[in-house]
Amino acid sequence: MYENNKTNKELERALRERSPEDESLIRSLANCDRRHFLKVSLKFAGMAAAAGVIQPHGFQLVSVANAAESSGAEPKVAFTFAYVSDSHLYARGMSHRFAKAARKAVEDGTALDPQRDFVLFGGDLAQLGRADELAFGQQILKEIKAPVKMMVGEHDWYLDLGAKWKEMYGPDRYSFDHKGVHFVVLNSVVEEDFWTAKGYTPEERMAIVAGLDDNRQSPFSVGAEQREWLKQDLAKVNKKTPLVVFSHSPLYKLYKKWNFWTDDAEQVQALLKPFQTATVIHGHTHQLLTNRIGNISFHGLLSTAWPWPYAPEGLPKYTVEMYRADPFNQLDGCGDGRVDVLANGQVNKHYNLWSRNPRTVTAAQLASNTIPGPRGYDGPSY
Ligand SMILES: [Fe+2]
Ligand SMILES: [Fe+2]
Repeated sequence: MYENNKTNKELERALRERSPEDESLIRSLANCDRRHFLKVSLKFAGMAAAAGVIQPHGFQLVSVANAAESSGAEPKVAFTFAYVSDSHLYARGMSHRFAKAARKAVEDGTALDPQRDFVLFGGDLAQLGRADELAFGQQILKEIKAPVKMMVGEHDWYLDLGAKWKEMYGPDRYSFDHKGVHFVVLNSVVEEDFWTAKGYTPEERMAIVAGLDDNRQSPFSVGAEQREWLKQDLAKVNKKTPLVVFSHSPLYKLYKKWNFWTDDAEQVQALLKPFQTATVIHGHTHQLLTNRIGNISFHGLLSTAWPWPYAPEGLPKYTVEMYRADPFNQLDGCGDGRVDVLANGQVNKHYNLWSRNPRTVTAAQLASNTIPGPRGYDGPSY
């Protein structure tokens, strides 16, 4: 799964070619884990080069896949935006734990100096789509000093089919340009009408959708009408312009039963395909989640309310896997984060996990498939 074995094998091969007599050095470097490998390889590179055993160039070749992680050789950061997502608020006042968590994320964002260019809210502001929940969420988000870009989630939508949300925040799909990057915000939680024929009330409809694995609902989609809008919007954009799309559900098919899924994902991806650089940032999955399909990179957002477990179907190989969240620590697996948009339009995704070490997935790691896996226990420390 991880690149460690590959890089170690390359290193072993290079050493055998250049220094076949030093079997112990070869064995110690070829068998160590990646973090240790990086540390030791740099140390031995210096020693070996100084002793004339190998050229420094040889180590650079085998270390190049890892170098992007720490060398600063990547393109410069052009700008940064922060994110808060999936707060699932009940209107039960600031003493409720979800409200406290949402405020914590807002405080993380507002404490930043300098301020990020904007803050993306990734959807599911409310738990049951009620007007008082949405208003409560709006009150909490008001503390954010940077401009806020709102995206809708299914929990905001299915009580009144978006009426209140749109009244508060405007259209559920829109695009904007920022510092040479074209951004698109989609409503990817469109469902076919499963309620009219069955006579479900708005509250029942909302409860069914909020149930996640309630099989009475339809799969999420972007829908034909919105795809046509997207097509028209993207037609005006030069294909060399970096493209970043925000969607609540992942714009690929991971696990249908939990709607970790967008039913017309392939058709949406086809619209993004002509772009030289395309990134999709999504909420809904409440976890560290990364994928890459063709030219498109996909990054999931953390929730402030709770972490979902990983789908039983497994994870895309690009994902930095987190150990199971501690059920006795309400903040474990939750958090917020930021996205650095690089000068070349690709992005580095930062997960600010509240009770664990922060994790980052860089564009260089995705491109070279050198995704750092878990290293021993990464859970909370008490
Ligand atoms: Fe959510
Ligand atoms: Fe959701």
